[in-house]
Amino acid sequence: MTVGIQTLYPNPLKSNGLIESYKTYCQDYKIPEKTRENEIKSFVEQIEKTPGFNPNLKFDPKKHIIFNTEDYKKTKTFTLDELKITKTHIKPLNNFGAAFPFKLLSKEAVNMLLWEALQPNVIEEHARLPNLSKNATRLDFHIGNHFLKSQFTNDLARSDELAEIVSTFVGHKMKPVWDMDLVHINVSLATNDLDEELNNYPQSQKEIDEILKRQDASDGQDIPSTLGVHYDSISIPLVIMLDLPEEAQGGQTTIIAGDNTATRVPEPPTGSGTLIQGRVLRHLASKPVTNHNRISFVLSYSTGVVGELDNCVTTSVKPSVLPKNEYNQFYRDWVNYKFTKLENHLKFIKNQVNEDFQNGLGFDQEEFVEKCLKIEKYFKGIYEEMECVDNQPYPPKYFNIPYDEL
Ligand SMILES: [Fe+2]
Repeated sequence: MTVGIQTLYPNPLKSNGLIESYKTYCQDYKIPEKTRENEIKSFVEQIEKTPGFNPNLKFDPKKHIIFNTEDYKKTKTFTLDELKITKTHIKPLNNFGAAFPFKLLSKEAVNMLLWEALQPNVIEEHARLPNLSKNATRLDFHIGNHFLKSQFTNDLARSDELAEIVSTFVGHKMKPVWDMDLVHINVSLATNDLDEELNNYPQSQKEIDEILKRQDASDGQDIPSTLGVHYDSISIPLVIMLDLPEEAQGGQTTIIAGDNTATRVPEPPTGSGTLIQGRVLRHLASKPVTNHNRISFVLSYSTGVVGELDNCVTTSVKPSVLPKNEYNQFYRDWVNYKFTKLENHLKFIKNQVNEDFQNGLGFDQEEFVEKCLKIEKYFKGIYEEMECVDNQPYPPKYFNIPYDEL
């Protein structure tokens, strides 16, 4: 069967920044043996040596979430206006821009998330090297969707308590997105290869300072990261730092502000969280310039208001772009999520029409047509980025357009 849509890009091509093996789960992007046998193995052993470590630990929100409600006031937050962002490529959820680091998870919870994510069977089945990245090595990769093997991670990711914290900061009711993209872990590991690879890092503080200065003065395009400057495909990511030693320099989330300068979110201590409206803020997660781990755990949220349509897309998470997303499950999850949103929205609109009639308000044709047009656009968004329809070069042009030219 052929889809009756003309496309300039009928197949994903590596030369266009896409993954050709996306339907067979990107076997060519698996984590190299050297990384598994050296850095990952010794990391797991180190966690297991922590006094009191319990591999069967159950998630307990009262014990493992250490957020203090005082921090709603104390945390530094930014509106889009404060970030000088006046134009966005799509309508933002609201004026929320970003929340700087706030204490969120206990050390025990952090260790458990790391331990579950770095198990050999999880690395084998749910970890992949990134597709497009600046200066990525065998030590940079993504992990996600390991719920069935990782009960603690599963329970934490779906906890109502975390959704509540996110909703309060954002000022809108938020809920976790579809399974496949609910948990996304960005891993950059320090090398254990002290002979060859260590030479690739700056050797003095002067050299480090120079690199950071150069990065700060740039528009972010050339900052080393496992994902270059981008918009998120989901509305709001909650980024929790799982590992970033205090001595590490340069491993932060960097937001491109409205004046096109790179603004670094301050060094988040381990276990702390940050929030950005990633769907409309251009940003990247920089790698430390020093030889240190940086592991961030990202939970993805979108509107939790029943009957409201979300603004999620698949641009940077579809399997031909993000190798860790397995094709069959990704689209199963995506269709379930979008169709459920649509079903709830249709029900909501239908009920409204009936209520208006019962209350003697009659039928507002213009308003109804407007709603139908919105639904039409939403429905098109469910399939228009699918690989059989669209394989435009990645990253898309609008990722690199300054806000004021949008
Ligand atoms: Fe992002």
